[in-house]
Amino acid sequence: HREGKLPGRQDWSTWPHYQAAAAGFRGYWYPVCFADQVGERPHRVKLLGEDLFVIRDKGKLYGMKNRCPHRGVPLSNGNKQFPGAISCVYHGWTFDLETGDLVAAITDGPQSPICGKVTQPTYDVEERLGMVWVYVGDGEKPHPIDEQLPEELVSNPAVLGQRIQAREGNWRFAVENGYDEGHAKYLHRTALWRMFKPMPVWNTTRIVKRDRWIYRVQQEQHWTADFPGLGRWTGLAWYKAKPPKQATNIGNTSSHREVNPVIAAQEFPGFASVSMPGVLRIAYPTFIHYEFYVPVDADNHLYVGVMADFQKGLKTLPFYAKYLGAVRWLFHGQFSGQDKWMVEITDAPPEKLYRPDDSLLQWRKLAEDVTEDRLAALREQGLEPTEEAS
Ligand code: FES
Repeated sequence: HREGKLPGRQDWSTWPHYQAAAAGFRGYWYPVCFADQVGERPHRVKLLGEDLFVIRDKGKLYGMKNRCPHRGVPLSNGNKQFPGAISCVYHGWTFDLETGDLVAAITDGPQSPICGKVTQPTYDVEERLGMVWVYVGDGEKPHPIDEQLPEELVSNPAVLGQRIQAREGNWRFAVENGYDEGHAKYLHRTALWRMFKPMPVWNTTRIVKRDRWIYRVQQEQHWTADFPGLGRWTGLAWYKAKPPKQATNIGNTSSHREVNPVIAAQEFPGFASVSMPGVLRIAYPTFIHYEFYVPVDADNHLYVGVMADFQKGLKTLPFYAKYLGAVRWLFHGQFSGQDKWMVEITDAPPEKLYRPDDSLLQWRKLAEDVTEDRLAALREQGLEPTEEAS
């Protein structure tokens, strides 16, 4: 663990931006649904507490604030009466999907004087990894989505197994659960998935920052431990009574398995890493598992799990068999269900942290520092960030 002592009693006030981001951090792209869920009819989305809809027109994706400015009816109840525009179901106000301009008020005739005087806010929308992504910002030009996605995922062909699930609980608890070191060893001890993944009872850890990510680097690993007066605890698997020969920072077992060349080329300093705005990356020898925690509002989030195997052509077939036959149910199912449960029942701070929680502190610090820089950049552009509501 890092030098120095963890502060004892904690709350989030040490990280004011983190504390204020109950409904999420602005200035990022977020996955909201699968690409094939969005067609020529509006698909309603709630993101960072904002109500919007996404829709396709001639294949292109658009996003728009959902509330009709006339009388407040959701535009997602309307439809496309004219090409490239959405018409509100109530009185037929019609907005250009690209610009948000009110281009017709059908029930006031072609010369309606309200036209040109109202503009509905729009959202930038992209399609990546078979999903629809929406940018929520403060009027700034969005950064290219590929700069935000994990670099290896953007630049290499991969076959993906995905799950999107609406879950209760604040998105910060979800990130912290994902990156939390202790729970993988204890909470998940009963997960079927863990039958095949021995883990040390405990280990020392160093947090390393590289580029946009912070990594948990496992050092000394203890596969069994004697607790004086209590007994012995083991992290070894039922089928293998010996600990792996050497620790590695890809996956949690010895490096006897061949490592996928794309994963090996990354030279990740640690197998679990996290980046803004709440993306977890767990690198195993043959695949990488990503979790995107998407803030819906202060009390709900979307869990987006993406398992990527960097293969193409016929070599993708074993992945499909493995994913559909086992991983989807054991990992994206039961294992991940245990996480869901914890995120639902974790209570808000104050909290009293112990050594393995250093990973949480480092994540909060990363979020705090990155947000500080973003807000400074916005102010430099003369933009006023949206008031964060805690
Ligand atoms: Fe939308 Fe009247 S409420 S047109």
